[in-house]
Amino acid sequence: PKKEKVSLCFKLADGSEHTAMAKVGDNLLDIIIDNDIDVDGFGACEGTLACSTCHLIFKPDQYDQIQEKPTDEELDMLDLAFGLSDTSRLGCQVIVTKEMDGWEIEVPSGVADARG
Ligand code: FES
Repeated sequence: PKKEKVSLCFKLADGSEHTAMAKVGDNLLDIIIDNDIDVDGFGACEGTLACSTCHLIFKPDQYDQIQEKPTDEELDMLDLAFGLSDTSRLGCQVIVTKEMDGWEIEVPSGVADARG
């Protein structure tokens, strides 16, 4: 069967909004890269849970609907993220599901960059 797609809107710190078609089953880091949404330094470790640059912020009701809950490893890494919120996740750890159609997801300003 063909993979289903949902429409996601990514809101960047500069106020711009980018609508992306996302394949169910992909993770949000892949979606942002595949759609050429350009965020400086985003996804530096390529989804290996070794950075916190793929930090995304969800609306509270949508955050609660994310099926996979964060692992301890993800929470540890999130602690290092710039501008951490109660509804933050690491994009590379969040898998797209059908429920996400129409979601608006914030890409926070500034990634924690070890180079200072
Ligand atoms: Fe590094 Fe997600 S891309 S933790």
